[in-house]
Amino acid sequence: MSSYLIKGVSVLGAAPTDLLIRDGVVAETGADLAADGATVLDAAGLVALPGLVDLHTHLREPGREDAETVESGSRAAALGGYTAVCAMANTSPVADTAGVVEQVWRLGREAGLVDVQPIGAVTVGLAGERLAELGAMADSAARVRIFSDDGHCVADPRLMRRALEYVKAFDGIIAQHAEEPRLTEGAQMHEGAVSTRLGLTGWPAVAEEAIIARDVLLAEHVGSRLHVCHVSTAGSVEVLRQAKARGVRVTAEVTPHHLLLTDVRAETYDPVYKVNPPLRTDDDVTALRAALADGVIDIVATDHAPHAVEDKECEWAYARPGMLGLETALSITLEVLGPRWDLIAERMSRTPARIAGLESHGLDPAPGVPANLTLVDPAAQRRIEPGELASLSRNTPYAGMTLPGRVVATFLRGEPTVLDGKAVK
Ligand code: DOR
Ligand code: ZN
Repeated sequence: MSSYLIKGVSVLGAAPTDLLIRDGVVAETGADLAADGATVLDAAGLVALPGLVDLHTHLREPGREDAETVESGSRAAALGGYTAVCAMANTSPVADTAGVVEQVWRLGREAGLVDVQPIGAVTVGLAGERLAELGAMADSAARVRIFSDDGHCVADPRLMRRALEYVKAFDGIIAQHAEEPRLTEGAQMHEGAVSTRLGLTGWPAVAEEAIIARDVLLAEHVGSRLHVCHVSTAGSVEVLRQAKARGVRVTAEVTPHHLLLTDVRAETYDPVYKVNPPLRTDDDVTALRAALADGVIDIVATDHAPHAVEDKECEWAYARPGMLGLETALSITLEVLGPRWDLIAERMSRTPARIAGLESHGLDPAPGVPANLTLVDPAAQRRIEPGELASLSRNTPYAGMTLPGRVVATFLRGEPTVLDGKAVK
């Protein structure tokens, strides 16, 4: 195993120090370290964070390897500063059996760029009718602990209750895509003034809020863990605030795009802005930012949703929902929260690692800790060029925007996956 001596780095914004990485762990920290044979990296001006952890990534393999593969998505993740991602189950075939989750897990190991933790489907084929083999997926080599029909809501309350009861035995989590389908039939964008003006069918905020309200009550009744995917409205924040105050075991995520963009983007009719749940209003963005800062929303998760050109560059109504996220999430969070490194580490690394049970991730760089970390240049400004992204897809809503911060290096168990801002393999 190689060793690296990182000189003059600021760990989470603290005074510069040296970090010696050896045998997969942070071996030593302190001033003026020396180490024979170690590769020396000058990290003056850089900030070290625990490697980022994404609880919500679509890798598209198996089934849509033209849009993303486990390997290409892992590379995008490493370049974004991630050391672990949770792969969503809406692949083709769906990850609803031990066989498919083991395949994704094995592909992740072979790529070796981030730890890929598969998420299993809650229902067979994401059809919302019968529970999938949750126990078999939990017992598989992939050791699945999070289950989600993301892209679809587990709308049937009896099925949702059963799923929560089932995973309680192994402290599993149901991650809900909160969307009451009867309220969003034909929906194209957020229901509000802009949808009225454009004449597009609206996706009302209450369709999300009603499901979250129901599910926190179910989780409270069962005593199980609920995670709410991509929270997008101010009303959802209030439902979560009340549930958390009562001690319900609920966690929640927000995406970078819901923290930055609003429904006025739909006026361009550019399907790059079509996403589910849809971009909301300024008031929603303000509430989501406040909730992320105060902890009612626990984490930032990307909902990285790569789509092939033909699925995105078409009429708005026919375009698939979703946007890329892995390679820009840290920059957007930095833009939204400012250089509050401890808070960024909490929301993008420690808490998602804790929720997912990824014990070797989400740990601040300190002696003896697994060397899963990322080095960021906070002073860099970066213009987003879709052609330069590692993802196989191009559907970034940030094309041409200049964003703060650049990932300079990422280490997975002491081995660099990114150096000098470039993927190592
Ligand atoms: O915009 C979205 N895209 N939302 C989802 O829930 C699913 C995702 C996808 O798979 O493309
Ligand atoms: Zn998703």
